[in-house]
Amino acid sequence: MRRRIVAAVAALAMTVTGTTLAGTPAQAAPTPGSPGIGDSYYPDYGNGGYDVEHYDIRLRYQPGTDRLTGTTTILARATQDLSRFNLDFVLDVSSVRVNGWSATHSRSDAHELVVTPARTIRSGQLLTVVVQYAGVPSQVLVDGYTGWRRTADGAMAVNEPESAWWWYPSNDHPLDKATFDVSVSVPDGVEVISNGVQPRPPIGELLGWTRWIWRTTKPTATYLSFLTIGQYDIVTDTAPNGQPVVNAYHVGLGDLAGAARASIERTAEVVDWASGLFGPYPFEAQGGVAGPLDGIGFALETQTRPVYGPSFWRRGANTYVVTHEIAHQWFGDSVSVADWRNIWLNEGFASYAEWLWSEAQGEGTAQELFDFTYAYYPADDPFWQVLPGDPGPNRIFHSAVYDRGALAVHQIRLAVGDDAFFRILRAWTAQRQYGNGTNEQFQALAEQISGRDLSAVFTTWLFTAGRPELAGDATAQARVATPPQPKSWARIQEAHRF
Ligand code: ARG
Ligand code: ZN
Repeated sequence: MRRRIVAAVAALAMTVTGTTLAGTPAQAAPTPGSPGIGDSYYPDYGNGGYDVEHYDIRLRYQPGTDRLTGTTTILARATQDLSRFNLDFVLDVSSVRVNGWSATHSRSDAHELVVTPARTIRSGQLLTVVVQYAGVPSQVLVDGYTGWRRTADGAMAVNEPESAWWWYPSNDHPLDKATFDVSVSVPDGVEVISNGVQPRPPIGELLGWTRWIWRTTKPTATYLSFLTIGQYDIVTDTAPNGQPVVNAYHVGLGDLAGAARASIERTAEVVDWASGLFGPYPFEAQGGVAGPLDGIGFALETQTRPVYGPSFWRRGANTYVVTHEIAHQWFGDSVSVADWRNIWLNEGFASYAEWLWSEAQGEGTAQELFDFTYAYYPADDPFWQVLPGDPGPNRIFHSAVYDRGALAVHQIRLAVGDDAFFRILRAWTAQRQYGNGTNEQFQALAEQISGRDLSAVFTTWLFTAGRPELAGDATAQARVATPPQPKSWARIQEAHRF
């Protein structure tokens, strides 16, 4: 869903066609869409040549066998003349149709499905791509890994940056956001949770099967769509802003259930608090999912409804991980990375939000958390060798991206002052709502709003190996020499470790 670019390309194509001389070919030969969208870390993620507007994902799942069958209908628009195009997908495909015409399909790579339509596609043309498929997703490994986790009573498709491949064909990169309708038929008594709202309650179909329907109405990046299937207690409510709240708790959490509820039930409060700092909440629903003991070992900011692994509840309630995932709804979900290299724009800000929450809870100020974090990693710790602004494709979730990312945000705040700092955050989330951003664009906005040259701060804290000196400031040096441990420290650390 990159409307402006799409419109420009379509207009250009029309101009070229309109001025063609009689007798010459009306259009250049169509070419294959690129197998990648151009990401610097993951060159084959996403695809070129088209832009998706909507996914309609219609599935049937049998937990007993982990067999998934489905039909996904993709509504897209071509951004070039196409002889063929790719989708990111790993399950077995039985048929593909493009605008009703049967298309041929093959596989060029573990996760690249190549679709060759019967007729050439022209730039600007609307595409309806219907893919039918089946498979056992937990058994389809790519580089030894599957993003579909089978559990004792169901499954979960929750992972970053790749999870969509195992349950629906897509243009799998945050540059191409779309809306989703997800419907899954499961045996009666099994719950299905996904993003957004339920346009209607689960409905019985056939004998012994129930179909669940979930819908997102705001642009969603593919890695932020999710599916959890299993035995869940679902708790619904209305948030202070009038939106539906849907929380889900796996029934097997045992002793952890209380702490999970005492954390996730505070989601609407955290959304309300964060809206005051970052601007209006960008989505149509709220909530959280407490995953099962045999599920994921991390949390993910799945849009409208983050999913939490059980480890966060081991030492009681943890509202810091909730704050982290809710802050991502602005930083990561509404404004997404344009390239995975920019991951600190997600993790640095979501981590910094925890420092702000700590201060609001009276459990340690952001400055105290800066001082303690700075001192916690000795200058010779390998931590300081990972650059948050360019951590490399195998280290996008390194603690430096989180903790040093938050240190960098605090340094930007100190450089511009509180008033400009919060104006920058709100301008960023407003200007790029439902879109993408880069580090360079964030720095430019921060400089424009503050009227300061911030290149030294960005270079020092995000792009230079080694622990930065605290700029000859004697009081700063003294503060980090023996900082007291903020009350929130241990909880915040848990929220960052997986
Ligand atoms: N964005 C997630 C968070 O910070 C981290 C996801 C880690 N992903 C993983 N597969 N371990 O909450
Ligand atoms: Zn995060």
